[in-house]
Amino acid sequence: MMRMMNPPIILLKEGTENQQGKAQVINNINACQAVSEAVRTTLGPRGMDKMIVDAKGDVTISNDGATILKKLEIVHPGAKTLVDIARSQDDEVGDGTTSVTLIAAEFLKQVKPFVEEGVHPQVIIRSFRKGLQLALNQLNDLSIKFSDKGLTKKRDLLERCALTSLSSKIVAQQKAFFSKMVVDAVLQLDDLLPLNMIGIKKVQGGALEESMLVSGVAFKKTFSYAVGKERFNFFTGCPNSKTVTIILRGGAEQFIEETERSLHDAIMIVRRTLKNDSIVAGGGAIEMELSKYLRDYSRTIAGKDQLIIASMAKSLEIIPRQLCDNAGFDSTSLLNKLRQKHSSEDGKWFGIDVRTEDISDNFEACVWEPSVVKRNALTAATEAACLILSVDETIKAPRSQVEQTAAAQKLGMA
Ligand SMILES: Nc1ncnc2c1ncn2[C@@H]1O[C@H](COP(=O)(O)OP(=O)(O)OP(=O)(O)O)[C@@H](O)[C@H]1O
Ligand SMILES: [Mg+2]
Repeated sequence: MMRMMNPPIILLKEGTENQQGKAQVINNINACQAVSEAVRTTLGPRGMDKMIVDAKGDVTISNDGATILKKLEIVHPGAKTLVDIARSQDDEVGDGTTSVTLIAAEFLKQVKPFVEEGVHPQVIIRSFRKGLQLALNQLNDLSIKFSDKGLTKKRDLLERCALTSLSSKIVAQQKAFFSKMVVDAVLQLDDLLPLNMIGIKKVQGGALEESMLVSGVAFKKTFSYAVGKERFNFFTGCPNSKTVTIILRGGAEQFIEETERSLHDAIMIVRRTLKNDSIVAGGGAIEMELSKYLRDYSRTIAGKDQLIIASMAKSLEIIPRQLCDNAGFDSTSLLNKLRQKHSSEDGKWFGIDVRTEDISDNFEACVWEPSVVKRNALTAATEAACLILSVDETIKAPRSQVEQTAAAQKLGMA
């Protein structure tokens, strides 16, 4: 009788969905794997592009991680967190979004067995933060300050970094042409390098190589009668204007749009390199070196910390591995070669050589990337992984009446 007088405590509104505990953490980790599956084949010079058709039927073709993630309109709350953090990479440094997604998802994948065994997520988070700090310090030590190297031609450096960024894009064939253009554009800006002073005008028709850089602004000419081609007025020669416009020519609209996005990545990279000229070698070289460093470190400590930092080390190998997979190379054998090389004295810049299905010294090969891109990517990936691990409950508000009716109508139920 007494029990009947104690009604159950109802805390949340009727219809509220509530998931919690370990199962919820695992569910979020799985969702992040799905996100990385969606973008992994786009990584690197041999990566593929994605064609995304939205609800209106508009088609986007892209290799840009940020664009793909945006277009996918992911609704899973855990996965959405990863997407938001990965996109912050795009805002901060303009390149490396795909890498952030892959590394974060791999961090989570590697520690999933620990979560399943009951290791408390906070323990993992603590080790992750420690591992990140170690990796960032090491990255700093490894970075090569351009000015220290006696390499005086700054322009060369900028072009190399733009080339690496453009290598993985639809315009890879014309990367030399566009790298020059992007560097010219950025060098014409004033010291603050304001991004909005580089305009990009897209003109359909003509060859990609007919694209050009104009010092000044371009306006579309308007005619009251039908004109075959678009025409532009140029305002040039104003010595104090410090504005430039890139006129992009090319075939299909989707192609020009993707070219614009690729140039945006390269412009951001060049600006970054101008502000901070320290660089590292790409093609998985820096990731392998940091991986080795963390692995070696983990052997000097004990307990769960050791396992978790070792799993971070393993996760970083995802970058060279995926570069191989996307090129159709034997990733297991190349990764073995890389591990061996990196454990030797002079092997720190060895990475994947996408032309020869082998490994090469990517510093010598001039596959250069600004270290700030890697710094930001590691930080963002760790931050995303920690955030996902720290959520053990999702409470979803019931849908509003209006939404429910609309959904029912859509299904023909109302
Ligand atoms: N010539 C090259 N040889 C080997 N690896 C290369 C070469 N050029 C670029 N890469 C590597 O390709 C990777 C970058 O690929 P990609 O541009 O597709 O992804 P992202 O920069 O992580 O993301 P996004 O560009 O979509 O924001 C980097 O690891 C970079 O070092
Ligand atoms: Mg890129």
